[in-house]
Amino acid sequence: MWKPPERIKHSLPEATWPTREQAAGSRCFSPIEIGSVTLAERTWVPAMVPWRATEEGFVTPEVLAWYERFATGRPGALVVEATGIRDVPSGPLLRIGHDRFLDGLRELAATVRRASGGRTRLFIQLIDFLSIRRRPEPSKFLQRYLEITDRHRRALGADLSDDEIRELLLELPASRLAEVLSERELEALKFGARERVTDVDQPHIRELPQVLPGLFGAAAVRAQQAGFDGVELHYAHAYTMASFLSALNDRADGYGGSRQDRSRLALEVYRQVRRSVGANFVVGCRYLTEDCLADGSTVEDACFFGAEFAKAGLDFLSLSRGGKFEDAKPPKIGRAVYPYTGPSGYECMPTAISDAQGPFGRNLSPAAAVKAAVRNAGCTTPIVVSGGLCTFEQAEGVLERGEADIIGAARQSLADPDWFRKMRLGRGEEIRRCIYTNYCEGLDQMHKQVTCQLWDRLDLEADDVARSKDGKRRLTPPPWSPEDAQQQKDS
Ligand SMILES: Cc1cc2nc3c(=O)[nH]c(=O)nc-3n(C[C@H](O)[C@H](O)[C@H](O)COP(=O)(O)O)c2cc1C
Ligand code: SF4
Repeated sequence: MWKPPERIKHSLPEATWPTREQAAGSRCFSPIEIGSVTLAERTWVPAMVPWRATEEGFVTPEVLAWYERFATGRPGALVVEATGIRDVPSGPLLRIGHDRFLDGLRELAATVRRASGGRTRLFIQLIDFLSIRRRPEPSKFLQRYLEITDRHRRALGADLSDDEIRELLLELPASRLAEVLSERELEALKFGARERVTDVDQPHIRELPQVLPGLFGAAAVRAQQAGFDGVELHYAHAYTMASFLSALNDRADGYGGSRQDRSRLALEVYRQVRRSVGANFVVGCRYLTEDCLADGSTVEDACFFGAEFAKAGLDFLSLSRGGKFEDAKPPKIGRAVYPYTGPSGYECMPTAISDAQGPFGRNLSPAAAVKAAVRNAGCTTPIVVSGGLCTFEQAEGVLERGEADIIGAARQSLADPDWFRKMRLGRGEEIRRCIYTNYCEGLDQMHKQVTCQLWDRLDLEADDVARSKDGKRRLTPPPWSPEDAQQQKDS
């Protein structure tokens, strides 16, 4: 993955963990209302795809075990991974685009409720994404996939047949090929072809604003039927809805261009979802404080969107940043481009090797700006922030300064799903602290079952440990219970 050129190695922020009494009196462990539900505490595990669904998108025993393990840590809220809303094959990504997925999702919601003793509120992240192809073999691309056009004929010979043009293209040096191919063709060759929301010459892209509200609405109804407490509309990172919000969206049909028009579909999707699920089901969204791209959306855009979303009635706004395709690295041949390999990807999941600012809390000041805009619009909508949050001091500081209302911690919760609970019980010394290397993200990039380097080799030989497909890693963190840990200490 991309790293800032300064390459400064940052130590973990020093941590003084609270006593049980201090935790009980803290902001972090005080309740907060989100729409129609109350979180017992202001702690939040954001969505993380663990690649454990079947190839058809069904819940598996490994999916259940994964979320059960997070629920044992009893956070205020747990968001289930990005889950596809369409009924189309999408590899081992969880899906909610048809009623046949309901049974598995019901079991998932029941598992979390049981494991958290009913304490954790459960949301599911609903995602739509456009098609993206793997980076092709250059010869295959030129011989088969590339559509021969007048541009190529003009450059290489008007009278030549398509096959003759292809033969010539195959022999061209890279610099000449770059002149003959269009920008999009060159991108398809180097990265794999990727659809954009601005490809309005394609009917299925043009019609996204007509199609998506219904798809999101139906998916939200299934989440409600399955027993979730709410949904998180995925308006962040590299995917369809974030691309509509992005300043790069110049659609001329009323769904691109100005901030207002770029947010139109997001609001229409929300309204359809709300109509479908009623008032007593939580509907929030995750979106970006900044695209972190040269011409992308800025924090001013995010402030505008936040105020509009809050006024429309969204129950929470969870803020992330970056994670775009536009500045990602070219993938290896045969692989798909991954939106977290460029500078914007770094902003989304910053590592300990960083610039002077460091990886801890990079999203806080933009989040504070969004929160101020939401409050100025007269709304009390809770704001969730994440990005390098891993200590009690950070969490309390964020809440005390009013930068956000809820503390999201993805990788720290993956490193230790009990970490919030350990803090609450005055057992902070036992926390396994994330070291922000992004080993987990590397697995995500390869669509391999995600684990953490800090625990995936522990007690690997034990009979009751479920292992990864290659048998080399355990799939869930070792269990922890306050009683067992105390007994071990005492003995
Ligand atoms: C393995 C992995 C999978 C992720 N999957 C998702 C996802 O499905 N949806 C999402 O919005 N963010 C996803 N993220 C981003 C995290 O939710 C979070 O925004 C990011 O890791 C920064 O927060 P942190 O510093 O607390 O880890 C993922 C992160 C990781 C490490
Ligand atoms: S592998 Fe573990 S320690 Fe490394 S970044 Fe991911 S969660 Fe943190």
